[in-house]
Amino acid sequence: MQALVTRRLPPGGLAALARAGACSIEQWDSDEPIPQSELLARVAGKHGLLCLLSDRIDKEVLDAAGSNLKVISTMSAGFDHLALEEIKKRGIRVGYIPDILTDATAELTVALLLATCRRLPESVEEVKNGGWTTWKPFWMCGYGLSDSTVGIIGLGRIGQAVARRLKPFGVKRFLYAGRHPKPEGAAEFEAEFVPLTRLAEESDFVVVTCSLTPDTAGLCNKDFFGKMKKTSVFINTSRGAVVNQDDLYQALVSGQIAAAGLDVTTPEPLPTEHPLLSLKNCVILPHIGSATYATRSTMSVLAVNNLLAGLKGESMPSELHL
Ligand code: NDP
Ligand code: DGY
Repeated sequence: MQALVTRRLPPGGLAALARAGACSIEQWDSDEPIPQSELLARVAGKHGLLCLLSDRIDKEVLDAAGSNLKVISTMSAGFDHLALEEIKKRGIRVGYIPDILTDATAELTVALLLATCRRLPESVEEVKNGGWTTWKPFWMCGYGLSDSTVGIIGLGRIGQAVARRLKPFGVKRFLYAGRHPKPEGAAEFEAEFVPLTRLAEESDFVVVTCSLTPDTAGLCNKDFFGKMKKTSVFINTSRGAVVNQDDLYQALVSGQIAAAGLDVTTPEPLPTEHPLLSLKNCVILPHIGSATYATRSTMSVLAVNNLLAGLKGESMPSELHL
């Protein structure tokens, strides 16, 4: 059995790879993405592929791999970069790694929300550039969580973990939107299932934690931002494509919404000349939701274990059932 690993893995993942036994592993030994031409050449004839969210596994890659390919293991919870219909048609199994990054991602979501609504990056900059002259009653004021309404789009694993962390800040009411109500997940926060329009209209903070699907692509657009309050803060830690970035830019520039915090963008990386980066009321992070040393190590171990189990035809620790 032969497999391709498309990136240098953290130490935990490397140690797990060492237990590959009879499976022969070829690794793209770099922190940088494997060039498409190398991916197409190296995946040919492989039985397994361990990829990252930045590797688009489409028909071209699957065709290049050929009929040997029986398992794809992605070191991510999201799987929007995988052409699932094609993969399913070919009978290829998929491993992914939900749960283990939920806490780290929820923590980062809360950090981004606080940094955005209390204007932390802007304030730090003012200290450095001499903008801090004296204590002024309204200078650097933002919006707080106390007594607020928080609307969560996609009350899944991360959405619930975010709500759990925000509740002690004194949030008065949680709303959520999704495909269908989740009474069990919502009970802990007494969260109310509402249509997207109501969530936009009533939330002081909108937090996007849904998966990217054809239904959620571009979900947060001009119409959505137009319904939000002028004092509301928008946070996205799911995938950049859930947001229409041109519409978000207009909403921020025109004062239609107060501020936005994004951990994910389209494209990634966001070009440094992108208009969103010129705005003081937009805080952008480089997709670091799961970026703690411990989480990334655990992610790589699980991704390797999924790969090896798939290669051996065994049950995977975390399989995405297609
Ligand atoms: P879950 O599957 O637990 O949650 C996804 C949620 O999205 C579900 O509640 C689902 O609701 C909801 N959803 C699906 N379709 C829609 C829709 N049309 N409208 C509104 N909600 C919808 O996944 P996780 O919580 O583990 O992860 C969520 C996403 O976060 C991942 O897919 C990934 O893209 C992203 N992520 C980002 C990270 C980062 O570093 N920033 C780290 C980890 C994940 P329902 O059950 O009703 O379908
Ligand atoms: C995921 O796993 O989907 C994240 O975006 C990266 O941790």
